[in-house]
Amino acid sequence: MMHRSPGGPGLLRRALLAGTAGVLAAAGLAGAAGTADAASTLGASAAAKGRYFGTAVAAGHLGESAYASTLDTEFTAVTPENEMKWDAVEATRNSFNFASADQIVAHAQGKNMKVRGHTLVWHSQLPGWVGGLSAIDLRTAMNNHITQVMTHYKGKIYAWDVVNEAYQDGSSGARRSSPFQDKLGDGYIEEAFRTARSVDPNAKLCYNDYNTDGQNAKSNAVYAMVKDFKQRGVPIDCVGFQSHFNSASPVPSDYRANLQRFADLGVDVQITELDIEGSGSAQATSYTNVVNACLAVTRCTGITVWGITDKYSWRSSGTPLLFDGNYGKKAAYTAVLSALGGSGSGGGGGGTASCTAAYSLTQSWNGGFNGQVTVTAGSAAITGWTVTVTVTPPQKVSATWNGTPSWDSSGNVMTMKPNGNGNLAAGASTSFGFTVTSNGTTTAPKVGSCTAS
Ligand code: G3I
Repeated sequence: MMHRSPGGPGLLRRALLAGTAGVLAAAGLAGAAGTADAASTLGASAAAKGRYFGTAVAAGHLGESAYASTLDTEFTAVTPENEMKWDAVEATRNSFNFASADQIVAHAQGKNMKVRGHTLVWHSQLPGWVGGLSAIDLRTAMNNHITQVMTHYKGKIYAWDVVNEAYQDGSSGARRSSPFQDKLGDGYIEEAFRTARSVDPNAKLCYNDYNTDGQNAKSNAVYAMVKDFKQRGVPIDCVGFQSHFNSASPVPSDYRANLQRFADLGVDVQITELDIEGSGSAQATSYTNVVNACLAVTRCTGITVWGITDKYSWRSSGTPLLFDGNYGKKAAYTAVLSALGGSGSGGGGGGTASCTAAYSLTQSWNGGFNGQVTVTAGSAAITGWTVTVTVTPPQKVSATWNGTPSWDSSGNVMTMKPNGNGNLAAGASTSFGFTVTSNGTTTAPKVGSCTAS
């Protein structure tokens, strides 16, 4: 299980700087931030695909110039990493402190970025007093918290994580124990959403969770809840998929399908806390897969990474983000930019052009088979690649796709190059396929090494 449980509740985060009232542009209308070329930043590239590209932001880092300039150049949305949580804004009952969160909202509005509100009702980072309330009092406190916080930010928030992480991990599909669940019962989620809608009818209302990124017992339970809400008219607009990945919990193979099945319920889907531990091309490929999944789902409205630089990540030792500790663009950055259709010109892993080729059998039948070769760029972007595929006589290659083949005089060695443009961002992949007529021999083809240019 990759997800680390967060630190204990009750941390009072006091604002160091005076907040700004932030009466600026209306929320939800942000276009591409910054002045960079149309497709040379994450935000601009995503905007060209009709999506936002956001990051979690900590108010305490906004004064660091490289942090702020990377934020302002690359991102079109922000999520306060901790500043809107219950312990930050209402550490003492009915005494609200919005200073740190206001700083982030004001910064975002000044740059025309969307703001995701995170989060109203969550079992973690909950001040101790909440757990001590009776059921009746807790219900009042929950609705008051939602009302006060959403009223303060009314008109400035694109989407709220109204309820966060309400389900257990594992195979039970059950609700997680929390003061809300234990005292108010299953209905608290519905109540939270109904209250939220009444306060700010223009904010999108999301349910947000982790380990729901593929189809499993937990995501099935969330799916059933969302389906029920939609059927009964309980106001819900979106589902957030946190997407904290590492080698023990990789990007699920059914990630896109899972996003799509939620979208098919009539809600937007958003990737809300993306980070992927690792480095180099493996990390870059995983990021590419996530971006491609979102782009393949029409109702996937945006992607938020959970921090800008590895040095401030909640799991910094796993280097899970797109910028290294010196704000250098990692291979993962270039891969994301490229997957978003961006220019990929801005650095990204350095090094010389290289690639790898991996063969897999995709289909076989009596008399033949289909093979696929996946070509993956190394730690630098490449502009072309060449891979040889050798079949064993009397086998013959009878068809090819997604590549331009040429043949040696024997007809057994096929040299495959890209169809047209061979650009691959660092760590990014493409594949070509071919059909082999066996002529009585089922030996697998030999795939030579990949040559990059
Ligand atoms: O700011 C204090 C600092 O003053 C103090 O010296 C230090 C000592 O521990 O703690 C600092 O606060 C920490 C805070 O992050 C800011 O860095 C808290 O201890 C720590 O618990 C808190 O962790 C946050 C975690 O949520 C808490 O649950 C992470 O930053 C934040 O990234 C993480 O975010 C969550 C999402 O909200 C929900 N999904 C999972 C995700 C990752 O856990």
